[in-house]
Amino acid sequence: MSISTALQAQHRHCDALLTDAEAAARRKDWAACASATARFILDTEAHFALEENAIFPAFEAATGMDSGPTQIMRMEHTEARSLIAGLNEALAAHDADDFIGGCETLLILLQQHHMKEENILYPICDRTVPEFADELE
Ligand SMILES: [Fe+2]
Repeated sequence: MSISTALQAQHRHCDALLTDAEAAARRKDWAACASATARFILDTEAHFALEENAIFPAFEAATGMDSGPTQIMRMEHTEARSLIAGLNEALAAHDADDFIGGCETLLILLQQHHMKEENILYPICDRTVPEFADELE
């Protein structure tokens, strides 16, 4: 499995969890919302950690670009984390409007972020550090 294929699948999986959490908030099913949100956060943090600790350093070492694309991706992760903190607050307050609004903002941010990774960063990683894919199996 290539880096692109493996990490795109992680993106789709996390998007689906966030969509589930939003749907549960619309139904005001707070138990389901809490469970989908918790899984979304766990899997998103695992995905971010894989990128920040392994994929981005490999990209930086292979391309010599250590202040360009990966720096922007790290900043967007920080933005996502702050939106996720807001989701947790809305969840704790059972504030459906806030939660749904937060999900929509986060989904837009993540869609744009994923597009950059999938169209630019991952294909470069597939070419420059293909051996990395073995570690993703
Ligand atoms: Fe990603």
